[in-house]
Amino acid sequence: MKGKLITFEGIEGCGKTTQVDRACRWLERQGRSFLRTREPGGTEIGRQIRRILLDTKNQALDAMTELLLYAADRAQHVRELIRPALLRGDWVLCDRFADATLAYQGDGRGLDRETIATLNGMATGGVQPDLTLLIDLPVEVGLSRAIRRNHQEGLTTAEGRFEAEETAFHDRVRRGYLRMAEAEPERFRLLDGTRSLDEIHRQILSLLSSYL
Ligand code: TMP
Repeated sequence: MKGKLITFEGIEGCGKTTQVDRACRWLERQGRSFLRTREPGGTEIGRQIRRILLDTKNQALDAMTELLLYAADRAQHVRELIRPALLRGDWVLCDRFADATLAYQGDGRGLDRETIATLNGMATGGVQPDLTLLIDLPVEVGLSRAIRRNHQEGLTTAEGRFEAEETAFHDRVRRGYLRMAEAEPERFRLLDGTRSLDEIHRQILSLLSSYL
C-alpha cells in the first residue's frame, strides 16, 4: 500500500490526542495529504459503537461483547476509511488501533491473546501500522489528567467507563503496551509522557520527518 499508517497509543490521559492534533497541524503546513481518525468511533457506525462501549451506564457489558464491539468498530473503520486512504497514498494518523485491544482487552481484562490476535486479523484484513508512537507515563498521572478532562468536557458518564476501572487494571494495560513495544522495536517508538508537550511534539516531528 502506498500510504503510511501511523498509530498513537498509551494509557488514559497520556496526551496522545493533543499530540495527534499537533502532528496534524504540522502535516497541514507541509501540504501533506492525510486522514486523521480514531478508534473507537472513526466512522458513523463506529460512533454508535463508541457510545455503547464508553457509557458508564453499560455496567452489564460482558468482556467478550466488548472485545467483539471493538473488532466490529475496527472492521468498519478499515474498510470504510483506512484502507481507501492508504490506497490513495495518504498518511493515516490514528488515535488507537489494534494494539489497544491487546493491551486493554488482553492485558487489562485478561482475555486470550490468540483470540484477540485472530479477531484483529479479521478486522484489519492484514492492515498494520507502519509506525506506532507509544506515549508512556505512570498510571496515577494519566488517570488524574483523564478524569479532570472528562469533568471539564462533561463526559464523566458518557465516556468514563474505562477511567472508572481500578488502578491495577490500568497498570496491566501500561505493562502490556510496554511489552509490545519491546517485542517490536522496529515498529514502536516509546515516548516519555511526563516530558513537556513541546518536547514530545518535537520528537514526533523528527520521527515523522524521516518518512517525508
Ligand atoms: P480514547 O479515550 O483514547 O478515545 O479511547 C477510548 C477508550 O477505549 C479507552 O479507554 C481505551 C479503550 N479501548 C479499548 O479498550 N480497546 C480498544 O481496542 C480501543 C481502540 C480502545
